[in-house]
Amino acid sequence: MSSKIIAMAADHGGYELKSILKDALVQLGYEVLDLGTDGPAAVDYPDFAALMADAIRRDAAAFGVLVCGTGIGISMAANRYPEVRAALVHDAFTARLSRQHNDANVVCFGGRTIGSEVAKDCLKIFLETRFEGGDRHSRRVAKLNCLPK
Ligand code: RB5
Repeated sequence: MSSKIIAMAADHGGYELKSILKDALVQLGYEVLDLGTDGPAAVDYPDFAALMADAIRRDAAAFGVLVCGTGIGISMAANRYPEVRAALVHDAFTARLSRQHNDANVVCFGGRTIGSEVAKDCLKIFLETRFEGGDRHSRRVAKLNCLPK
């Protein structure tokens, strides 16, 4: 699996931002695995979180991007899956720390709550920031992996 493949999924509250972020990723040289949805018809965000978890589990993508109206529902759903560490981010600081401290592998946005330029900035930072590792963060992330889902 190439670290240049990014999976994306959204519900109807997030498909427009997903499309903007998809274009930005392609411009940055990433390959996108687009899991839908692609229009305004109402869908259920847990279904798209499930598709994302499956892509991460199969190692079909290095990282994932999820978008719903607020980012809340889809991040809650995604974090039910053991292979996913999903972070709802709002700014450069939370995007950076979600990687440095939490080793997040899926970044979530609210399509109705964040501006597209801020989201693009967050996404670039998320993808370019490494997990700091070390005893402290590795121990905590390992404990996350042991929690009941
Ligand atoms: C859909 O209307 C909306 O509830 C959903 O996109 C999301 O915001 C849920 O958390």
